[in-house]
Amino acid sequence: MKLLENKVALITGGGSGFGKAGSIAFADHGAAVCVADINADNAAAVAEEITAAGGRAIAVAADVADERSCADMVARTVDAFGGLDVVWANAGVAQPKRAIEDMPLAEFQRIMTINTQGVWLTLRAAARALKASGSGSAIVTSSVSGVKGRPGLSAYHASKGAVIMITRGLAAEWAPFNARVNCICPVAADTPMLPTFFESLGDPKELVEKSRSNIPLGRLATPKDIVDCALYLASEMSAMMTGSTLHIDGGVLAT
Ligand SMILES: NC(=O)c1ccc[n+]([C@@H]2O[C@H](COP(=O)([O-])OP(=O)(O)OC[C@H]3O[C@@H](n4cnc5c(N)ncnc54)[C@H](O)[C@@H]3O)[C@@H](O)[C@H]2O)c1
Repeated sequence: MKLLENKVALITGGGSGFGKAGSIAFADHGAAVCVADINADNAAAVAEEITAAGGRAIAVAADVADERSCADMVARTVDAFGGLDVVWANAGVAQPKRAIEDMPLAEFQRIMTINTQGVWLTLRAAARALKASGSGSAIVTSSVSGVKGRPGLSAYHASKGAVIMITRGLAAEWAPFNARVNCICPVAADTPMLPTFFESLGDPKELVEKSRSNIPLGRLATPKDIVDCALYLASEMSAMMTGSTLHIDGGVLAT
């Protein structure tokens, strides 16, 4: 069953990790996809992979921290495909783990600007189109770190906790337009981002292995684990859900 037939989707951070897997899966499910990423080459490669397989996609070089760039990626999606039904505000950066007293203010600001302001600007730029869709759906990538504290991640926690409340606020704001907004909280997942949390703390491979051993289900999440939940939230399968936070955590938050 194709879940996104005749839908138009925009995915930020679409050039790598969850966003890349999501762009390909959303296109496989019938959506026309705008692959937006600050890394223009990666976005183009993903869009080419989709079109080579017979799907519909465009690539847009976009910086989610930048107001004009967000407006541009939405305008180009609507120009190319005639509307916008699904937005996955997924782009983000890691915080290399560090004690708060050793962290420069500029690093806190960089993480908040991309992870939090970036989600807010993406959803602000998409708001009119999603409300006009009649069945709009936005998905926001938070993290287990948006709800559970761990040492060395104070800025990342702030950035990911804030987007849960952006989700809830917009769920209330957009409900009269049948535009939904839900949030996903992935546990440590096997993407290019994961080792960057451990920069300068030791052997990243060993530290990634330690993360895995802390997950009750005994493995890291895969991009597919995350994309399957995003697909569900993007589609009418979740038509009665808005403002929700879905934990894709392998049991971490239950234990
Ligand atoms: N991998 C994990 O363990 C994990 C766990 C929980 C949450 N997350 C979150 O999932 C999301 C996706 O991460 P991923 O693991 O796929 O990482 P990734 O590094 O593979 O992909 C992130 C993408 O975002 C893009 N990006 C970064 N800054 C951007 C900007 N300013 N504008 C536009 N694009 C930008 C990057 O170029 C990259 O393509 C992030 O928000 C991350 O915080 C990741």
